[in-house]
Amino acid sequence: MTPVPDVTDVVVVGSGVAGLSTALGLAATRDVVLIGAGDGSTPWAQGGVSAAYGDDDPLDHAHDTQVAGAGFCDPRNVRALVEEGPQRLAELIAHGARFDRNGDGSLSRTLEGGHSRPRIVHAGGDATGAEVHRALLTAVQRTSVHMMTGRTVGLLQSESGSVVGVLVETGAEVVRIEARAVVLATGGIGNAYLASTNPSTVRGDGIALALRAGASLVDMEFVQFHPTALHTGETAGQLPLVTEAVRGEGAVLRDVDGRRIMAGRHPRADLAPRDVVARAIEATMRRDGSDHVWLDATAVAPDVLRKRFPTVLASCARIGVDLLSEQIPVAPAEHFLCGGVRTDRNGATDVPGLYAVGEVAATGVHGANRLASNSLLEGLVFGRRVATALTLDLPAKDLGHVRELMLGDDRQPERIRTILSKYAGIRRDGAGLNAAADELDSVGTGPLATVARAVVVAATARQDSRGCHWRSDYPQADERWDRHTVVRLDQDDRPTTRQVQTDLV
Ligand code: SIN
Repeated sequence: MTPVPDVTDVVVVGSGVAGLSTALGLAATRDVVLIGAGDGSTPWAQGGVSAAYGDDDPLDHAHDTQVAGAGFCDPRNVRALVEEGPQRLAELIAHGARFDRNGDGSLSRTLEGGHSRPRIVHAGGDATGAEVHRALLTAVQRTSVHMMTGRTVGLLQSESGSVVGVLVETGAEVVRIEARAVVLATGGIGNAYLASTNPSTVRGDGIALALRAGASLVDMEFVQFHPTALHTGETAGQLPLVTEAVRGEGAVLRDVDGRRIMAGRHPRADLAPRDVVARAIEATMRRDGSDHVWLDATAVAPDVLRKRFPTVLASCARIGVDLLSEQIPVAPAEHFLCGGVRTDRNGATDVPGLYAVGEVAATGVHGANRLASNSLLEGLVFGRRVATALTLDLPAKDLGHVRELMLGDDRQPERIRTILSKYAGIRRDGAGLNAAADELDSVGTGPLATVARAVVVAATARQDSRGCHWRSDYPQADERWDRHTVVRLDQDDRPTTRQVQTDLV
């Protein structure tokens, strides 16, 4: 293995689907260093990749995306997502990804919440993310991309404001790498909440770094909670996911007395968009004073469950429940950040030299609530778009004095998680959000603190309810709030908001 250079064309921070896709797309034309600090959420994704091809119409996929996104999506970027998706999927298959197929050789496609027809392609039953990750990683390893492991703890910024490199902590050493462009592909903010479906390495570092460099965030109030994390009895850390596809195959949600939760609440019942289902579960648990509800898959044929959901079956077995014959306990957990670092559709932020892609970025494709199985797709499509943009044009070399922008440390991470989970979960209100802001005042300026404040200021500003932002004191969508909430740092390094009416960038 050749040593990692200290000067390169592009540094990609993050080795999930978005980072790997970006690096792979650049490998033939640019010198690339890919920095991973754990594999992020990609290997944990179960459901799949949504793609409309053959007798399915990308415009129907776009329509479902916009409906799930509560009409708050950027239509042009959604169009790019659904139209370029099948081509990216085909390339992934050419790179060796093995998706599940029917007896006749066609790709097996399933249904998930919010989709008007089965269009979710999956692998290993419910291990799609692991297969996508394996195939992309193998493909990147065949290229000249330099891979290194470490946490990116700082950015280099020129006097004129351009981002010109990174600082990476590897063991006891901090390595400096200069680059013409830095692409953040660091995923979401799972570790800012007590319970998440994300691994603990997903902690919002990219969000904090981008803010420190002067970039804007947008739509940070739209934090998506997956309706069905397995209720293991643990109240903190990464919880096992129970993919929506289990409901796609016919499982239903029941309250503690065995009554159906979603029947009569939404025309698609258990397959309503994710925010609708998560809210219904939260309301049911609050009404019943319970810490979980039940997912009942006992009417689904056992051989279907065994073949399609080996990961879920194994997670259930670890806590002593049997998906085939019993109801399993589930509860919502933080899952996905729909907002993030504001970018155009080629990943450019409003800071020269700084790009963002995948969950850390906000292109507007998810609106106020992401449609199921659009996240791996986003990484594939927008990873390639960033790679194309940086192949065509690399920012000019910015010479001169460079300063180091450091992430810093959180002194009270557990306290931050507790505050955010208590006041900025599925259900929020002004009094709670004000209390959160007060309590966050004393937790320092580390990355988790910055991320938590960004969510709280955005959620406080938006005085309406839509998608996964639900204010019990403003329970309706209000057209006066048909505008995006932008967050930047003020002079004291504290996130502050303003509202913009226009497109995302
Ligand atoms: C799931 O399989 O339910 C999760 C997939 C996603 O988050 O899109």
